[in-house]
Amino acid sequence: MKETNLEPGEVVVARQDIARRLPLLAAEITASLGGNVDGLVIMPVLTGALVFAADLIRCFPQRLRIDLITARSYGAGTHSQGPKLEGGVPEGVKGRHVLIVDDILDSGRTVKFLRKSVQDSGALSVRTCVLLRKQLPEALATPCEFVGFEVPDLFVAGYGLDCDGWFRNLPDVVCLRPRGETKNLVR
Ligand code: IMP
Ligand code: MG
Repeated sequence: MKETNLEPGEVVVARQDIARRLPLLAAEITASLGGNVDGLVIMPVLTGALVFAADLIRCFPQRLRIDLITARSYGAGTHSQGPKLEGGVPEGVKGRHVLIVDDILDSGRTVKFLRKSVQDSGALSVRTCVLLRKQLPEALATPCEFVGFEVPDLFVAGYGLDCDGWFRNLPDVVCLRPRGETKNLVR
């Protein structure tokens, strides 16, 4: 495990704002399904959506199913093949409404790839909910029905989001900066 020289900076989305937004998001999702989420498959994308999904699912009073998936991006360099699914799409999506839950929409590649994979696996419908969407043309152009918060194009962490595996446990979404400095990390 690599050490980090980063520390939490300004709060970008506070825990109280997240707590207030989640029941509203759940209501939007429920309304899009005609008021009935019974039997919906919620598909959190690990690891980043862990905290968000854990809180969001408890805003639904009806029966749900949870199917976890793990997406990884390969090759940041010239041989990038885009995101890959570890273990494939769970069998249980066939014939069901599916809600993919992810932490953040950045380039949109993960969400685009997952929507297609889930649709190709025979889901009845596919919707996406992200906690955060960066104000980037690629992110804004990616199909996504439910967005918790629009955020600037900064590198953020906390509430499940990490930097090299660190900071997922922070209760707020924050900027990061090198220890002892005042300038935020951009990427
Ligand atoms: P994509 O570029 O939209 O495919 O984003 C894929 C993944 O990159 C997200 O699900 C996050 O795990 C990660 N990511 C993108 N931007 C950030 C960030 O600002 N902080 C932490 N993780 C990020
Ligand atoms: Mg990540």
